[in-house]
Amino acid sequence: MTTTVFESPPPAYDLQAVANLVDHHFGISGPTRSLASERDQNVQVGDYVVKISNSAESWSALDLQHAALTHLVVADPMLSIPHVARPGIVEHEGHLVRALTFLPGAPYATVEQSPALRHELGRFMGRMSRGLQGFGHTAAHRPGFLWNLDNAAATVPWVADIANDDDRAVVERAFQRHNQRVQPLLPHLRGAVVHHDANDYNVLVHDSPEGPHISGLIDFGDMVFARQVNELAVTLAYALLDVADAVAAGRDVISGYVAEFPLTDNELRVVYDLVATRLAMSVAISSHRQREFPDNGYLTISQAPALRLLRRIIGMRPEFLHFAARDAAGLEPVPQHDRIVEWLASPGCRPASVLPFDLRRAGRVVISLADGAPATNFPGPVESWEWMQGQMDAAGAQVVVGRYDEDRSCYRGEQFRTDAPEPRSVHTGIDLFIVENTTVHAMLPGVVESVVDNDLAYDYGPTVVLRHQADDTPFWVLYGHLSRATLAHIHVGDTVAAGAVIGFIGDHTVNGGWAPHVHVQIMTDLMADPETGFDGNFEGAGEPSRMNIWRSLVPDANLLIRLTPETFEDRSADQPSVLQPRRTADLGPSLSTSYRDHLSIVRGEGTWLFDHEGRGYLDCVNNVAHVGHAHPHVASAIARQAAVLNTNTRYLHRTILDYAERLAATFPSPLRVVYFTNSGSEANELALRIARTVTGRHDIVALDWGYHGNTNDLVEISAYKFKRAGGAGKPPHTHLAELPDPYRGAHGDDGPAYARSVATAAAAALDHNGAGPAAFIAESISGCGGQVVFPTNYLATAYQHARSAGAVCIADEVQVGFGRVGTTMWGFEEHGVVPDIVTLGKPIGNGHPLGAVVTTPSLAARFANGMEWFNTFGGNPVSCAAGMAVLDVIEQEGLLARALDSGDHLVARFQQLATRHTAIGDVRGRGLYLGLDLVIDRSTKQPATQLAADVANRLRERGVLISTDGPHDNVIKIKPPIVFTRSDADILCRELDDALADLSPAATR
Ligand SMILES: Cc1ncc(COP(=O)(O)O)c(C=O)c1O
Repeated sequence: MTTTVFESPPPAYDLQAVANLVDHHFGISGPTRSLASERDQNVQVGDYVVKISNSAESWSALDLQHAALTHLVVADPMLSIPHVARPGIVEHEGHLVRALTFLPGAPYATVEQSPALRHELGRFMGRMSRGLQGFGHTAAHRPGFLWNLDNAAATVPWVADIANDDDRAVVERAFQRHNQRVQPLLPHLRGAVVHHDANDYNVLVHDSPEGPHISGLIDFGDMVFARQVNELAVTLAYALLDVADAVAAGRDVISGYVAEFPLTDNELRVVYDLVATRLAMSVAISSHRQREFPDNGYLTISQAPALRLLRRIIGMRPEFLHFAARDAAGLEPVPQHDRIVEWLASPGCRPASVLPFDLRRAGRVVISLADGAPATNFPGPVESWEWMQGQMDAAGAQVVVGRYDEDRSCYRGEQFRTDAPEPRSVHTGIDLFIVENTTVHAMLPGVVESVVDNDLAYDYGPTVVLRHQADDTPFWVLYGHLSRATLAHIHVGDTVAAGAVIGFIGDHTVNGGWAPHVHVQIMTDLMADPETGFDGNFEGAGEPSRMNIWRSLVPDANLLIRLTPETFEDRSADQPSVLQPRRTADLGPSLSTSYRDHLSIVRGEGTWLFDHEGRGYLDCVNNVAHVGHAHPHVASAIARQAAVLNTNTRYLHRTILDYAERLAATFPSPLRVVYFTNSGSEANELALRIARTVTGRHDIVALDWGYHGNTNDLVEISAYKFKRAGGAGKPPHTHLAELPDPYRGAHGDDGPAYARSVATAAAAALDHNGAGPAAFIAESISGCGGQVVFPTNYLATAYQHARSAGAVCIADEVQVGFGRVGTTMWGFEEHGVVPDIVTLGKPIGNGHPLGAVVTTPSLAARFANGMEWFNTFGGNPVSCAAGMAVLDVIEQEGLLARALDSGDHLVARFQQLATRHTAIGDVRGRGLYLGLDLVIDRSTKQPATQLAADVANRLRERGVLISTDGPHDNVIKIKPPIVFTRSDADILCRELDDALADLSPAATR
């Protein structure tokens, strides 16, 4: 039987004998002093350490050490390791003797440790690993080597030698963890020759004026070919002994190590498990040796701290430590985090509302539960809930929101204490406070992973966890603080659809003692024990110092809840109560503000507008943001051109011409000459000027209740202005033709009958000026007239009358152009007419100030009478880029078809509503230019002006924006951005239905 170095006692020469033999073999002399060693005799002689090996030591084992040291000197000359004195290994009385340079410094175990020193230790060992890359030696293959972490199984039988039951149990768990997590991965871990013993007495620290530094590593006696990651695991097993925070200290070491020598994913997965293995082996081995050599105190010297550290590591979930190791290595802690979050943000992820109403449109109050915040100043949940209800009432809110990633003082109880110095105090979910028994809904389709009652004080109470899939990657959503009824309502394994009720809000007697709310959090990994499975509980708060790991494990639940960013911002300067007085003081009082409760809108996106509190409003009225608010294509086209050049039409510029040609191409022949303006009013002004110039006449025939713009000339032809409050009445040069309103007009839907009034008005012009009208101007659907769609043959007949009176026909397409009517690009096209002049505005630049006049080459030529037409801003390259981008989007997103589809859907639903609400006298419009004529009595058609205003205000309260118009302000006007979808339409109809039922019950059958 061969003896091991542990079984033969260390050699024990007297110092003089050592001095003599060293002088003799190595030519080294100097003061001598004994150094400690477990198995050899070590003596310092001058600047050298002389090592007289145990007689059981083999020559090849020492040759391995010398070869490695020689290799390292070449690979990393600055690495502070012992150098070998010539001639190398000599034999003396059966002992192998060698001399190595003495490295100054105190053992790491004896100096004050710091994050910086630990980081340096990690770096030092990383350099060792890098330096030893590619090094090989036959003696490195030590199949029976006890300390090799790869052979952990060999020490398992010695666990029985651990006297204390608790100690034995913790060591057993470490070995179990090794079997479960490390063993299967061994074939996937890199191999290398490693030092394998960077213990806190082998690492030396040198004090310098700048602070302590790692000054070297000694004792290469445990070198072995093993898993590469063992090097770091052994280093950590000592570096973490008795530190205040093992995860933080581990981060120091690992981050240093990987800065020099990167680790693979699998290595990071097991490194902490191997730390536990090393500690367990160390306790097992020392307990075994203790039994064999009861007098050798050195053997158990490190057992107590090793057990303390082992308990802490075993007390943490292995997957958490895996994520901590990745975090330390500068990687995303949870490997699948990015995949899941990317999916959550992708268009394929369309979460349903977690509460039984549309959270986007719900008024919300965000509260803080941070230390000292008002919400924390209550003796109990009942009082704090009362206070929250008061806050909601004051703000007209439906829900109180508690923040993700907020450091809170409200968590008390043992379950918030961890191995970290500080408790878990940072909230990892979003809280939605709402009255008990409110239904809670699955946001995505999924399967119930767990339903449990976590009934500790300050815990979750009844909790449901759903499993979902981000393509192939599972993730989970936890809904906590539910009611006990939830436990009977839903069961593990149930499949749930998005929107399905999965539970109910619990009250403080069952929900852990909180004001009623649901805590929602997403989990990218359950960290479940593979043997016992997930127990239905998962931390809802993390340690502040470990939040980088927690954020990866529990990303912001708002990825699914989708409260707008403004919800969480301080927008107090944007509050209506702040802005309204400023507006009154700063801007002219002729400007009106929509709705009784004025809105402060801070952002738009698609069909949605968002106020200063982040509350969303479905925009059913803004036809200027034609292709959707803040459309990225339009915004970037504007930004790009603005960053390059913005001049005017006095220079040649290709963009202006490209746009003019593209715009003109959307018109029927002979309309093909374009003038650019800055607004619809300017376009109509120019149209009048062209008409007046080419006819030499001044009088205009316009439709009753029409509106064409804000200039003096246009107000004079806009009955909607001059006939109403503040108006000066009809001027003599304006001649009004009847509004051809099939619902309220005198001739029903007889178009030619209404058109006769155009001839009459033209005749009046002739009477007035002796020549006749310069122009007949009409919108293609009357907007201010009340969304009035003209009857068949009206416009064609009206044009005939106008033209036979010598007038130019102007189509005002400022409101309805650019495909809003769905079937054609321009409203007049539906009537089979070709105007002489068409005016454009509003949607043309999606909000960018732009307008245009399109006419025939012949009129344009006659208009060019010598007087220049110049417009400083009209047709500038930035505006043209905006206009071009709008045409791109209309084409690319197929928006005419969308307008038609959503519009037809709306009309059908409005007609359904009209069967139940007699207040709806008429449903009319084309595409997404619609009106509901509200009446007090269907037979008299008496306009329900007040009701229309009330409905508009009620819808605004519910987060839907519409406006009213028409001569009696009783027509609900619907003209949303044409990206409006059927589901947007359904929101509008649902709210309209409720509002009518509520506000006009008498008119509701
Ligand atoms: C039919 C019609 N024409 C012209 C205008 C004037 O356009 P702007 O306000 O851009 O000058 C408007 C504005 O509401 C309008 O509705």
